[in-house]
Amino acid sequence: MTTSDHHDIARSNDGATLPDILRSVDIGGVRLDSPTALAPMEGVTDRAFRGLIRGVGGCGLTVTEFVSSESLKRNDPKAWRHAELDPTEHPVSIQIYGRDPQAMAEAARECEGLGADIIDLNLGCPSKQVTGGCSGSALMKEPERATAIFKAVRAAISVPLTVKMRLGWDHETLNAAEIAYSAQEEGAEMIAVHGRTRMQMYRGSADWAGVRSVSERVKVPVFVNGDILNAEGAMRALQESGAQGVMIGRGAVRDPWVFQRVNAALTGQEFIEPPLTERAESLRRYFDYLTDGTLSQRHACGRLKKVIGLFTRGLPYGDDLRAQAFHLHDIEAIYEATAAYFERLQAEGMNRFGELHNAVSREVELDERAERYAIYALS
Ligand SMILES: Cc1cc2nc3c(=O)[nH]c(=O)nc-3n(C[C@H](O)[C@H](O)[C@H](O)COP(=O)(O)O)c2cc1C
Repeated sequence: MTTSDHHDIARSNDGATLPDILRSVDIGGVRLDSPTALAPMEGVTDRAFRGLIRGVGGCGLTVTEFVSSESLKRNDPKAWRHAELDPTEHPVSIQIYGRDPQAMAEAARECEGLGADIIDLNLGCPSKQVTGGCSGSALMKEPERATAIFKAVRAAISVPLTVKMRLGWDHETLNAAEIAYSAQEEGAEMIAVHGRTRMQMYRGSADWAGVRSVSERVKVPVFVNGDILNAEGAMRALQESGAQGVMIGRGAVRDPWVFQRVNAALTGQEFIEPPLTERAESLRRYFDYLTDGTLSQRHACGRLKKVIGLFTRGLPYGDDLRAQAFHLHDIEAIYEATAAYFERLQAEGMNRFGELHNAVSREVELDERAERYAIYALS
């Protein structure tokens, strides 16, 4: 079965379930058990959060937060921490960003040495801090430089190379298909596309159908990304985009079970909703990872608040918990507040997180205050 056959199957499918062949994906020899990936999220998808996702199960590929190639070059401990992997987590991809092909090649080599199964290049970050340095999505305006980076990185590593991008810089320059094609010609083995332009930042809705231009242009697997919150959204995104897989970010923070939901839908099985106690327990394990001594208390509290913010967005009493956690600076106190939150939901008979989440609208709201990748509500 060739990749183009995969495309034909995806395109011809208009039912609720996809054929068996689409349940797993091969990325340059790295086999994913499920055609799903956790989207890289700075400040969120660290080793602890990826541990939470692995613990819950169902996610085909996890990806680190982005790692600055220049910071690795300067030997900045923060950059090394972003690239840190758990020896048991596979397959895992390390995402790097930068604009200098040689620095990117060097960073990729280092990351391969850390045990990454895949190296991913960031052509999607919209933040001024990153695009101001003319990397991230700004590279979509400089296709020649992007190609030089693909070439240099490909030559430096032996593991598969993947690229994550947006639809283009703005709606006048929707060049994702050309950039993806060039990446493929230089040896990239998978392309993930967030269905927005750089100028949209996180406004409006992700255009899954817009990703079809990429799926139709390249032979390598394409993962569609943006605003996928549940199995129904994943199925629609696959059908509209013709992609082979889904990449999920904020939806996975709100609901780490989302990958299992997608897998169940893809295989035509029923998803058994985890009891609320299992959710509370998964968060407890995440707290434990966070407090394993690798992060300062301040840092760990910041991460925790970020995850709780996304985890409870749109849920009953979520505002109360976020407001309460905002004023807490001790990890145990935050944990206790969260445990009390779960007890309250339980006491009021709200056991079905999935249903609560599904009831929430798909509207995406931009948080104008945040500077880099802002934390946006899928409220
Ligand atoms: C807090 C946060 C941090 C992010 N950090 C990164 C990053 O480091 N690298 C990257 O390629 N995209 C990053 N993104 C973008 C996501 O990977 C993803 O493309 C985007 O959130 C849309 O997908 P979603 O709707 O499933 O979240 C970030 C997004 C958020 C919300």
